[in-house]
Amino acid sequence: TDELPTEFHDVIIIGSGIAGVYTALEIPEKYDVVILTKETIEISNSVLAQGGIAVSLDKGDSPELHFKDTIYAGAGLCDEESVWVLVNEAAANIETLCQFGVNFDRKSNDELALSREGAHSKNRIIHAGDTTGKEVCDKLISVVRTKQNVKIKERVAAIDLITEDNVCKGILAYHEDSSSYVFYRANVVVCATGGYGQLYSNTTNPEVATGDGAGLAYRAGAELMDLEFVQFHPTVLFHPENKSFLISEAVRGEGAILRNIKGERFMPKYHELKELAPRDIVSRSIFHEMQKTNSNHVYLDITFKGKEYLENRFPNIYNTCLSYGIDMSKDYIPVAPAEHYCMGGIRTDVFGRTNIKGFYACGEVACNGIHGANRLASNSLLEGLVFGRKIGKEVENVIEGSRKEPQKVSIKVKSNRVEKNIDVNKIKKDIQETMTRYVGIVRDREGLEKAKKKVDDYYELIKDMKNNSVSDFEMQNIVLVSKLVIEAALERKESRGAHFRLDYQKTDDENWKRNIIKRKI
Ligand code: SIN
Repeated sequence: TDELPTEFHDVIIIGSGIAGVYTALEIPEKYDVVILTKETIEISNSVLAQGGIAVSLDKGDSPELHFKDTIYAGAGLCDEESVWVLVNEAAANIETLCQFGVNFDRKSNDELALSREGAHSKNRIIHAGDTTGKEVCDKLISVVRTKQNVKIKERVAAIDLITEDNVCKGILAYHEDSSSYVFYRANVVVCATGGYGQLYSNTTNPEVATGDGAGLAYRAGAELMDLEFVQFHPTVLFHPENKSFLISEAVRGEGAILRNIKGERFMPKYHELKELAPRDIVSRSIFHEMQKTNSNHVYLDITFKGKEYLENRFPNIYNTCLSYGIDMSKDYIPVAPAEHYCMGGIRTDVFGRTNIKGFYACGEVACNGIHGANRLASNSLLEGLVFGRKIGKEVENVIEGSRKEPQKVSIKVKSNRVEKNIDVNKIKKDIQETMTRYVGIVRDREGLEKAKKKVDDYYELIKDMKNNSVSDFEMQNIVLVSKLVIEAALERKESRGAHFRLDYQKTDDENWKRNIIKRKI
């Protein structure tokens, strides 16, 4: 095949959620940055975030208490150094968002209004109604569009990270509209592609969350960590026409109660924090109640609050529920857990660095240990900000260092792939169902082995297939990342945080208070 068209930039950022766009803004303006995004810039997981961003601002609150809550939720696997960075640098980054004009809700005295979410010991969630992600992303995107040094390229999918001797050289990208490849050369690549929610049938994530970042990082030799820890949000709308709409934890923060289909409140039986226990515990409790009552959902009850209050505090949730005939001021909301967030991802240090020089990861795609085995609510938008800033400061070292080296890399697309008659959508659906059934809230060896067999077979089938569309690449990433998640889940023979094994129900600190790291050999 012919040599590819090539572009050079100082920094490539893949992904246009909060982590990608904020990092672009934090990179010194003297550097030329390009953001590659698979869809349009507005489509991301961050944009759907409802609840808010955690920051210790209240009287009586402190970074120390935020640290403690994060560590408690993380079930023994958090990296303490990373968590300290997160909680200590939260307020300064929120200040920057306010300077960008992000309109968080405020009290009558103009201080930021703080709400409560699960496993937080204080009110510390800043929010913009129940569409916080949208407010933040809209503002960040409007600021980034004004930057001369940042180019945005939409409908460009990052396919492979190109390295030489474990040093980043750029990204092989696929332009969907022209069905053509371009080699984006750069000594710094920041991966901010989000998680792998689309491994599961029911997820709050958008279609684009297909594990592309984890996939490309793994293929290039980067380390992945904690993949077995997948968070299921306890309360996702359960309606025949919609099983992916989030009912924010902030609704429980305002006092909402969980009831089983017989109308009985059950959380007090499971945990002293009741509806506001850590997320893994609430999801598992719902799972048990659903099994006990032979039902596929439970109810969330906030009918004791008035219509006016609910319309004002949760306009998006109120109106969306209403469009399905549910008036939350009068009716219980049918909910069930659904995949929501991947704790695992590309292993990084506190500067977002991976084991490949010049290759960084930020946001949900990264794993720097702040979430441990179970993420504390509203720490993830914060993660994108805090570590985006860290990376923005850090990349200078790599860029300046590499300027002195000659640039002469060129690549070709491998031509040893074969045209196969493969039903990509069918494989994707089959994997999603398999992962949901066997690699979900509750797991055991037998189910994991079944899932492994299925995914391994698909892996063999597709590994040399010729790719003709973005969906082909996505499906390949879904298969690869599922395979790695299953392997990690089989390996961890204990229950901890979001990883619960029926055959190993105890937490085993002696053998398993450690991370599982996956790296291509
Ligand atoms: C929510 O609003 O419940 C989502 C908060 C989060 O996932 O951090």
